[in-house]
Amino acid sequence: MYSEKVHVVDHPLVAHKLTILRDKNTPTKEFRELVSEIGMLLTYEATRDLPLTEREVETPICKTMAPTLQGKKFAVVPILRAGLGLVDGVLRMVPSARVGHIGLYRDEETLEPVKYFCKMPKDIASREVLIVDPMLATGGSASAAIGFMKEYGCTAIKLMVLLAAPCGIERIQKDHPDVDIYCGVVDSHLNEHGYIVPGLGDAGDRIFGTK
Ligand code: PRP
Ligand code: URA
Repeated sequence: MYSEKVHVVDHPLVAHKLTILRDKNTPTKEFRELVSEIGMLLTYEATRDLPLTEREVETPICKTMAPTLQGKKFAVVPILRAGLGLVDGVLRMVPSARVGHIGLYRDEETLEPVKYFCKMPKDIASREVLIVDPMLATGGSASAAIGFMKEYGCTAIKLMVLLAAPCGIERIQKDHPDVDIYCGVVDSHLNEHGYIVPGLGDAGDRIFGTK
């Protein structure tokens, strides 16, 4: 139903861990650890097209040519706050990645994103960018973040989220049809407060224990 730009990582480990995340009784420490672990698993899919080259390696048996990452420049860009919870999982898979930060919060009445912070690596325009945020709800925050990265000159941008609402996916596809979306699951809809249903509640509050 969605274009080939939408990648739902329907793996049993992801599904199992997401169910624990949804549980309102999951404590903050476990919640944070699971966000990081699912981040790692989604990164596996989001980096599937990283280019490889070959180098010579000497095994205990003989010399051989073996695949190695071409070393294309990569950056992970969390949308603050909740996106911070995913950075560790991405960096465990791609330790050489640089990290840029975009601070956005949703105005609780208008649901429109408001920017309060932005700090990028100097050479961000030449890097492949993976924007991360656990939640894609209306899509306003992610769409704005992608727009900012394009203003920086970035041309290779992907978005990675844990839970997505159908309207959030549609918004990104309409505003930024060039961007691949990686997500763990697509939920049913948004409630009247803009929360994903069934969802997992407020991701930032649950990661940082602020409620
Ligand atoms: C949440 C979430 C996304 C945004 C998604 O952040 O982490 O950034 O809402 O909603 P949208 O798709 O409708 O824009 P929030 O504004 O609650 O800020 P926080 O990360 O500081 O908790
Ligand atoms: N932001 C959240 O943290 N949760 C939602 O369900 C929607 C937006």
